[in-house]
Amino acid sequence: MRSKLVVGNWKMNGSRPANTELLAALLAARPLTGPGGDVAVCVPFVYLGETAAQLAASDIRWGAQDVSQHAEGAYTGEVSAAMLQECGCRYAIVGHSERRAYHGESDELVAAKAQAALGRGITPIVCVGETLEQRDAGQTEAVVKRQLSAVIHTLAHCAAEMVVAYEPVWAIGTGRTATPEQAQAVHAVLRAQLQAATGHAARMRIVYGGSVKADNAKALFAMPDIDGGLIGGASLKAADFIAICRAAG
Ligand code: 13P
Repeated sequence: MRSKLVVGNWKMNGSRPANTELLAALLAARPLTGPGGDVAVCVPFVYLGETAAQLAASDIRWGAQDVSQHAEGAYTGEVSAAMLQECGCRYAIVGHSERRAYHGESDELVAAKAQAALGRGITPIVCVGETLEQRDAGQTEAVVKRQLSAVIHTLAHCAAEMVVAYEPVWAIGTGRTATPEQAQAVHAVLRAQLQAATGHAARMRIVYGGSVKADNAKALFAMPDIDGGLIGGASLKAADFIAICRAAG
């Protein structure tokens, strides 16, 4: 019903030589996942053209780490969904916790960005997740539901086309992964919310992100509502990312 999706989020890392080497290693290791599985890398905007050229003839997809909510115009420094479409992007991450925290992105802005991406046929990977403070205060469910509900409301009948990424803020780049059971519990909540809104949650992918490594990926991906991963640090090392993709089997 659902196949796995593993996405590398390179964040603000990379260089031309390093990217070429990393992508060449991924290409050489194909097939990276089992039948129906999908693998993608979300790279800094400036590398999209070269990434597209290197991956074009393969089944590895690419995407961006953000997108403007505006279609075009006087928005210095922004990149539109039409531009991403021109670069062949399949995915655009929106609402990553680093953008929510460092760029003040609100639930409504994240929703507008998801809508802009979908309008150009780009699948938004909508990130939601609670801080440690919120988890300790027992607010995890309320926080992720609020974040997702803004997007569901804006996308309306197209909501079933998004990918959702559950990324607990306390697990990102900390080496402290959510246990498979902790992640599964939140994924189940999100799927129920998606089902109530779209009626198509059984075919929607909800991926987990936050210190996913080669040695914990299999247990996470084995949970019934975890449909793959959004991988930060480990996506920069070919051997680690390949091992994580294989764990999605
Ligand atoms: P790490 O895998 O480095 O914890 O990052 C997760 C993440 O933020 C992916 O978007």
